[in-house]
Amino acid sequence: MAVIFHEATKIFHLFNNEISYIMRIMENGQMENLYYGKAIRDQEDFGHMHEETMRSLMSVCVPEPGILSMQYTKQEYPVYGTGDYRSPAFTVVQENGSRIVNYIYVSHKIYKGKKEILPLPATYVEEEAEADSLEITLHDQVTDTDLILSYTIYTSVPVITRNARFVQAGPQTVILDRAMSASVEFLDMDFEMVHLAGAWSRERYVKNRKLEMGIQSIQNLAGTGSSSDHNPFLALKRPHTTESQGEVYGFSLVYSGNFLAQVEVSTFDLTRVMLGIHPEGFAWELKQGESFQTPEVVMVYSDKGLNKMSQVYHRLYRTRMMRGKWRDQVRPILLNNWEATYFDFNEEKILTIARKAKEAGVELFVLDDGWFGTRNDDYHGLGDWYVNRSKLPDGIDGLSKKVEEIGLKFGLWVELEMVNKDSDLYRAHPDWVIGAPNRFESHARHQFVLDFSRKEVVDYIYEMISKVIRESSISYIKWDMNRYMSEPYSKGTEPSKQGMVMHRYILGVYDLYTRLTTQFPDILFESCASGGARFDPAMLYFAPQTWTSDDTDAGERLKIQYGTSYVYPIVSIGSHVSAVPNHQLLRTTPIDTRANVAYFGTFGYELDLNLLSDSEMEKVKRQIAFMKQHRSLIQMEGDFYRLVSPFEGAGNETAWMVVSPDQSEAIAGFYQRLNKINASWLRLKLQGLCEDTLYEVSCNMEPAFDLDETLASVYGIQEEEEAVQVYQAYGAELMYAGIPINRTDLMIKGGDFASLLYIIKKIEK
Ligand code: DGJ
Repeated sequence: MAVIFHEATKIFHLFNNEISYIMRIMENGQMENLYYGKAIRDQEDFGHMHEETMRSLMSVCVPEPGILSMQYTKQEYPVYGTGDYRSPAFTVVQENGSRIVNYIYVSHKIYKGKKEILPLPATYVEEEAEADSLEITLHDQVTDTDLILSYTIYTSVPVITRNARFVQAGPQTVILDRAMSASVEFLDMDFEMVHLAGAWSRERYVKNRKLEMGIQSIQNLAGTGSSSDHNPFLALKRPHTTESQGEVYGFSLVYSGNFLAQVEVSTFDLTRVMLGIHPEGFAWELKQGESFQTPEVVMVYSDKGLNKMSQVYHRLYRTRMMRGKWRDQVRPILLNNWEATYFDFNEEKILTIARKAKEAGVELFVLDDGWFGTRNDDYHGLGDWYVNRSKLPDGIDGLSKKVEEIGLKFGLWVELEMVNKDSDLYRAHPDWVIGAPNRFESHARHQFVLDFSRKEVVDYIYEMISKVIRESSISYIKWDMNRYMSEPYSKGTEPSKQGMVMHRYILGVYDLYTRLTTQFPDILFESCASGGARFDPAMLYFAPQTWTSDDTDAGERLKIQYGTSYVYPIVSIGSHVSAVPNHQLLRTTPIDTRANVAYFGTFGYELDLNLLSDSEMEKVKRQIAFMKQHRSLIQMEGDFYRLVSPFEGAGNETAWMVVSPDQSEAIAGFYQRLNKINASWLRLKLQGLCEDTLYEVSCNMEPAFDLDETLASVYGIQEEEEAVQVYQAYGAELMYAGIPINRTDLMIKGGDFASLLYIIKKIEK
């Protein structure tokens, strides 16, 4: 059993081979955290880890002669108003206006496996033996409310999940105006906070800061999505921790709405981390018999650097967050028409693009925005989920069948949570949009947010879209969401419950996802939000891949995909080859590099292949064949390692790789931004290989462009350079001495934005 309760000392110990998490019931009945980190051997008593010292100004919370104080104690779920002057994990407002509560230990349950927390998404187990769980029930006598703190420790990975649930048994109505999912404390502040910050088209850049006394936090108040500004994730790493060594604690919140992820360092260096629904605008009313469930926090500990932390998240989220048919399947290579046509298409144009895609080896054609209502631009039609017959005379059913006759699967774009005012839906139900009475309602992209906190709205949209899906042959859905919430107010909700609207909105989104994924279990869903404004673990529960960013430029994608890989599995990272000059930056990058970046994701195309030259089209065919051959390693089996960070130093180089679990095969990508003249030597040091295994290293040296003869002779680039470069080396050499990267090779591969892709294979003796 990985959860032990030591009755005599009132100590809980959750442990596996890698981690330990130790708590005790304090003298006042509340819970104290004693230790979280690398596994330590179990024993009856860890009480000596609690240190008590009498200090001036200290509020003592047990009768004399005790000196227990909440101010200097690492609490498991800190309470407001106890003499602990840091931020609490929760506050409960009572009918008499008091916020003073006292939740004390009543009982606990230890069991095999892990419970669901529906309707919220969460990690799960398939066999009970995969995890052990602990539920600690605390009770506040005055309000007659239970607080249940839940923990699950996975048996064979360094993962603990946590959540909290409030159950109101008593007759009074209480308001939760803060209810975080978890709080964890450390005895020192010798950490850096790592998080992923950004904006549209530059999502999830890696940020690092040294902890200081006081509060450092990231947050999201966007309402509709976890946002492109901040991802619901943070890690605390030791200052010397790198990608490959050192301690790091990851915290990932399984939620798609407003969140707060906060680290508070006391003036005694105690470090308190908490994550959960953002308290701003949140007030959850709990009447007798009602309960409130917080989202899950997934905590990963690694003493082998950030790569190990990410690998643990990748495997957990790929196999125990994603569900359904697509969880264990490589993803179809798709072509999406958005950047090829935008709103300007008709059936013939779409079929012409689809035929060429088929010729190249593409497997799935995705029809993006513009197929419905009067949607010829972004002013009109959102909300009217029936086909625009002037563009598509045979409807989606007709088009989907024609695409299937070509030999491709058919996918469709939707944006179900939004409405344009110029739509039949808005004209029929103007009160269905979020917005406060007698106040201006802001728009974004000329659209308004449908009030998904109301069941009748979700029901209506469900009926409309499920009809389209039922009547057509649809294998894939891209679920987009292109604006944040403003003026949050629900016209269908009573005044006292307005503080519940934003969370209920997200529950409405989860509800619609649940209904659609249940009714259409074979459909592959890809979530999207103006690119990657809703890239969070909760989405992966419903949609096993996410459109990572609207920025399809290969140079920019390096940063975006590098940062995204901190938490999210490679198979979830939607990545496409797009046209040049790139539509977001007008930058031209070699087509090889565009593919070499996109391989480390779901892989697809976002352009009209009819516009490519013959030699480019031949390359595309080879790219698709390559991905089909290697996608199982990249997307399903392999461990991903970040090797060179675009966020460190001048950021001119980036590298990463995947390695098969048996270390017999690997693929490494090396990328540069600007080419350098007369420069120093470069070595790419790999990771994750077997030191004593002899590998064959190969790199395709076909030039990235049609060679100019004069230049080719100046640089001594021969036609034979098209051949594959091959050599042999032991794993130890590849990891510690590195692959020598020849600057001429980077010239052959295009100079600026050149890249090299290495295939590393064990030589069978
Ligand atoms: C935003 C998405 O990120 C794009 O890929 C595209 O689907 C557009 N919306 C369509 O409006």
